[in-house]
Order: sequence, then structure tokens, then C-alpha cells
Amino acid sequence: MLTAIKTLMGGPLRHAERQRAKDRAEERTYWRQRLERMLREEYCVAMHPVQSDESLLPSGELVASIQQANKTGADVFFASGYRASILLLEDLRDHGFDPRSFERILDFGVGVGRLIRHFYAFAAELHGCDVTEPVVREVERQLGGRVRTKVLTTEPVLPYPDQYFDFVWANSVFTHIPYDKAAGWASELRRVVRPGGCLIVTAYGSNRYLGHLSERQGNRTFKWLEKLTKSS
Ligand SMILES: C[S@@+](CC[C@H](N)C(=O)[O-])C[C@H]1O[C@@H](n2cnc3c(N)ncnc32)[C@H](O)[C@@H]1O
Repeated sequence: MLTAIKTLMGGPLRHAERQRAKDRAEERTYWRQRLERMLREEYCVAMHPVQSDESLLPSGELVASIQQANKTGADVFFASGYRASILLLEDLRDHGFDPRSFERILDFGVGVGRLIRHFYAFAAELHGCDVTEPVVREVERQLGGRVRTKVLTTEPVLPYPDQYFDFVWANSVFTHIPYDKAAGWASELRRVVRPGGCLIVTAYGSNRYLGHLSERQGNRTFKWLEKLTKSS
């Protein structure tokens, strides 16, 4: 009787878990193929082996220390990385930028290098910086041959000269920066992008967050966004 109950409960659960794993694997293949096609058709470049090398995967604990636990696991790590990189490339294209012409690129808040690895396909010098030292060390261990790293302090200072980068992005970083530091970091990001270069920053989505902010918090959020968007 007990065995029968176990089978009844275990069977469908195992099936659901297997199905979820299959879905995640399919999603990874889908986004990899889309990125591969985009690189080939729009930029005539091939995907670099690093972009799908599972031996360069950070540990689940390290990923979970800076990201939602649901980003751990090879399938989710790669699928979400491919997808976010496609969004960056689409934004570049929609604003008239060609990543093949970039000399230097910075991933601000590089984390475990989930996104910067997808720019290996381009010739630019790749840079990544972050305030969390263990993740920077992991990027050095995995991608150090190509990605130049810096550990930052929490004070808004970037260790790069003025107008140094053609392209800088900060993906899911300002959502982790205290309000009183955000405007300082925004100014620093503007400082290191060359005139006519490109800066992409993700911010609070109006649908999910802005409605829940108090008026004061909302005003402060817009203050640093204004800092980024005002003409220099
Ligand atoms: C959610 S993770 C995103 C990581 C990476 N951008 C990605 O999309 O995979 C947020 C990252 O921002 C970093 N971070 C937080 N405050 C920062 C700051 N002031 N300067 C640079 N990085 C910061 C964290 O250490 C963490 O690696």
C-alpha cells in the first residue's frame, strides 16, 4: 500500500521535473540558435566556443550569491545569457551602432561573466568590473585570457580614463545600487563613454516597480536616470 502511494506521488512529480528540465534545455538551444543566426547574418561572425563551453560555468553557489537562484544551472545560465545578449545587440542595432567597430567594451557589474562571454565573437577589447570580489576572481579564472577585470569599491569611482569605452552596459546593476550612490555611478558611466559612444543601463521596469515606489523614492530614481540622459 505504502509503495503504491509512493508510486502515485512520485510518478507525476518525476515526470513534471523531467519535463521542466526538457523545457529548459530546449529554451537554451532556441536562444543559442537565435544568437548564432544573428551573429552570422547581421555581423558575418561565428559564435566563439566560449559562448557555449560548459567547463567555464561558475558554481551554483557563486551565481546564487549575486543573482536569483533560478539563474543557476547550465541551461538557465546560458539561455538567459544568450537572450540578454540578443537584447543588447538589438538595442545597438536599433540605435545605429555596429559592435564590429568598437575598440573597447565594458560590462559594469560583470557578475560571473554571464553576458560578456557573448561578446567574444567581436574583436573589441573586453573589460568587466564589479564590487563583489569573488565574482571578479571567477571571471578572471574563466575568462581572464580575454576579459580585463577590476574590483570596485562601493564608492562611485571607475578606474578608467575619460571617454575610454565605445560601449558600456550595466545589466541588472542599478537595481542593486543604493539610491544615494546611483547618481554618482551614473556620472561615472557617462564619463568613461566616448562622445558618440553607447551606454545601456537597465532600470526599474515601470510595470513592476515604479508603481510601488513612494514619491520620494520615485523622484530619486528619476534623478539618476536624468543624469544619464541629459546631454553632455
Ligand atoms: C544581478 S547581478 C547582475 C550581474 C550581471 N550584470 C549579469 O547580468 O549577469 C548584479 C551585479 O551587480 C554588482 N554590483 C552591485 N553594486 C555594484 C556597484 N556599485 N558597482 C559595480 N557592480 C555592482 C553585483 O556585485 C552583481 O555582480
